[in-house]
Amino acid sequence: MRAKKIKLLKISEPQMGYALDFNHTRVKAKPFIKWAGGKSQLLPQMSKLFPPKDQINRYFEPFLGGGAVFFHLQHPKSYLSDTNNKLIELYEIVKNNVEDLIKALRKHKNEHDYFYEVRSQKPAALSPVERAARLIYLNKTCFNGLYRENSKGEFNVPFGKYKNPAICDAEGLRAASMALKNAKISQGEFHSVLGKAKTTDFIYFDPPYQPLNKTSSFTSYTANGFGETEQIELANVYRELSDRGCFVMLSNSDTPLIRELYKDFCINEIQASRAINSKAEGRGKITELLVINYYWIKSRKD
Ligand SMILES: C[S@@+](CC[C@H](N)C(=O)[O-])C[C@H]1O[C@@H](n2cnc3c(N)ncnc32)[C@H](O)[C@@H]1O
Repeated sequence: MRAKKIKLLKISEPQMGYALDFNHTRVKAKPFIKWAGGKSQLLPQMSKLFPPKDQINRYFEPFLGGGAVFFHLQHPKSYLSDTNNKLIELYEIVKNNVEDLIKALRKHKNEHDYFYEVRSQKPAALSPVERAARLIYLNKTCFNGLYRENSKGEFNVPFGKYKNPAICDAEGLRAASMALKNAKISQGEFHSVLGKAKTTDFIYFDPPYQPLNKTSSFTSYTANGFGETEQIELANVYRELSDRGCFVMLSNSDTPLIRELYKDFCINEIQASRAINSKAEGRGKITELLVINYYWIKSRKD
């Protein structure tokens, strides 16, 4: 009997940062975790001020958080870091072990008692994949979808009572995994960027913001705070990178200290809407600063 002729379909490789969903349409990679201070909503304003892509040698994001700017730029030579070791472990799992992570996430349920059971688990007793899945699970199902720890380093946000949170966005995670394939991910302090960055590298700093007043601070991403001393140290690192010929961009709140620290650079105002503050007057539009050290960019048409 003659074998049936089969027509082979050629499926092209998905582009960097894109995965194919069920219908073979491309899914753009985006943050897979909601993080306080996430920049997704500000990207339309920020992208007008990024240096031109073709002039950037390498990209550094030392306060990674949700990584909105990384996922937007998807520079092929990216260096991503943060002091939060649980967050960095999660990025490594998304990058290297996404299918196991998806399997682990599919076991989680959006139920009140189950949430508190998972919240009370000791992360050290779990495997790295289970820990990563737990972090995403708690982030998607907790109140306001954010990450906060108490002074003992324990996650302490209550159950969010959402109807149908996307606990496992398999295609989104696969797209993120692909976008991260060439990225160098590490845990560490922001100033370690000084050991690597050279001329024409682009460094984006998104530190914990300087509080507008004492009650508006949301600086406890991890058990360690980020005070005035660190803001001053960061401004020194910014200046040193600028002197080296790097492109440097920094986000921060609009306070006299930040304006003073960066007065020699190009300070842009952008409008952000606040969602993190639970008090009504803390919501609505607020001016934030975006400091760049490359003045000529202002006349560039986007
Ligand atoms: C504003 S968030 C970053 C938000 C992020 N760019 C986004 O779009 O979601 C600040 C991050 O800085 C990290 N961080 C705090 N202190 C740090 C330090 N000294 N060095 C590096 N990262 C630090 C926190 O763990 C947190 O993830």
